Amino acid sequence: MKFKRISRNSGLKVSAISLGMWHLPRLPEKDEAGAYKIDVDEVRRVFRYAYDHGVIFIDTANRYHGGISPVPLTHVGYAEKILGKVIKELGLDREELVIATKVRGRMSTGPNGEGLSRKHIMWQIRESLRRMQLDYVDIYYAHWYDPDTPKEETMSTFNDLVRMGLVRYIGMSNIPGYHLVEYVKIAEERGYEPIVVLQYKYNLMERDIERDIIPIAQRFGMGLAVYSPLAGGFLTGKYVDLKERKWVIPELSRATYMESFVKRYFTKENLELLIEFIEFAKGKGVTPAQLALAWTINMEKVWNVPIIPIISVSKLGQLEEAISAVDIELSSDDLKYLDELSKKARFGA
Ligand SMILES: NC(=O)c1ccc[n+]([C@@H]2O[C@H](COP(=O)([O-])OP(=O)(O)OC[C@H]3O[C@@H](n4cnc5c(N)ncnc54)[C@H](OP(=O)(O)O)[C@@H]3O)[C@@H](O)[C@H]2O)c1
Repeated sequence: MKFKRISRNSGLKVSAISLGMWHLPRLPEKDEAGAYKIDVDEVRRVFRYAYDHGVIFIDTANRYHGGISPVPLTHVGYAEKILGKVIKELGLDREELVIATKVRGRMSTGPNGEGLSRKHIMWQIRESLRRMQLDYVDIYYAHWYDPDTPKEETMSTFNDLVRMGLVRYIGMSNIPGYHLVEYVKIAEERGYEPIVVLQYKYNLMERDIERDIIPIAQRFGMGLAVYSPLAGGFLTGKYVDLKERKWVIPELSRATYMESFVKRYFTKENLELLIEFIEFAKGKGVTPAQLALAWTINMEKVWNVPIIPIISVSKLGQLEEAISAVDIELSSDDLKYLDELSKKARFGA
C-alpha cells in the first residue's frame, strides 16, 4: 500500500485508498424494515484483509447502516457499531487506523435531532464514540451544510472537540463552495483548528468539484477524500451485457435496492459511454473497476492536491481488485482519452 499526507495543512498520513461503510457486505435476507441483513463474517474478512494490506483509512458516518439507503431512524448508527465490534474482535491496533465519521444527518425526531449546532454535535460525538467503542476519532466531518446554524458556532464546536481530545482533525463534506470558504476563513481568523480534508463525490462521470471545490482545496492546502469513485459500481461494467448491448441487474447488487441509483445512471447515452470505457480498460489489461479507481488517483497529478478515493465493497474480492489498482500509472494520453470520454456523460454530480 502507498501512504500519503492527507493534505498540505496537516501531517496526517493515510492509505492511498479508503474503505467506506455506507454499504457493507450483505446477506440475501432482509429485515422487517426492508434493510438487507449485514454479513458480519464477510465484513470481518474484509477488514482483516484491508488492515493486513495497509488500508488503514476507514470512512463511516453516524447515520450509516450498511444495507439500506436512505437509512430509517431505526437503523442509524449500525455501521459504527459494526466497526467497533470488528476492531475489537480482530484485535486491530486502533492507533494504526485513521477513522473518520460524520455528523449532521437526522439521528432522532426532536428539533435538535440533526444539524451542526453545538448541542447536536456535542451529543453525537459522544454517541459515535460509544458506538465505535473508541476514545477519539481521527477525522470528524460536517456531513453536509446546515443553513440553520451560524458557521461560527459549528467551527468553535469542532475546535473545542479537538481541544477536548475527542477529535484529531476536522473535515467538511458536500458543502457548497461559497459556504466552504466562509468556514475556512472563520477558522483562520479565529485561530481555530483548520479544515484538513474535504469529502465530495468524484468519479470519471461526475466531475462537478473540478469547478470550485478542487480550486478551493488547492488554495487552502486541504486534501480530498472522494466518494463513489466507481459511481456506486456503475463503472465496474457489471450492469452491462456487452453482447446484447443492454443493461442487466445482477442479484444483490446496489441497483436491486437503490432506486435513485438506477434512475441516475441507467440511461441510453451512458450505456454507449460505458461500453467504450470497458473496452478501453480491456485494452490496458485492467478491469473497469481498476481503471475507474486509477483515474481518480491519477487525477492527483493533474490537480496537485492529494486525492484519496473512498470505496465500499460487498465482498472481499472487490477489495482485492481495488487494492491492486493503487499502482496503476495512467499516461497523459490515457487521461486525455478518458477526459474526452467523460465529456459525453449527460449528467453532473
Ligand atoms: N460524504 C458523503 O455524503 C458520502 C456519500 C456517499 C458515500 N460516501 C462514502 O464513500 C464510500 C464509497 O461510496 P460508494 O459506495 O458510492 O463507492 P463506489 O466505490 O463508487 O461503489 C461501491 C459499490 O460498487 C460495487 N463494487 C465495488 N467494487 C466492485 C467490483 N470490483 N466489481 C463489481 N462491483 C463492485 C459494490 O456494490 P454492490 O453491492 O453492487 O456489489 C460497492 O458497494 C461510502 O462507503 C461512504 O463511506 C460518503
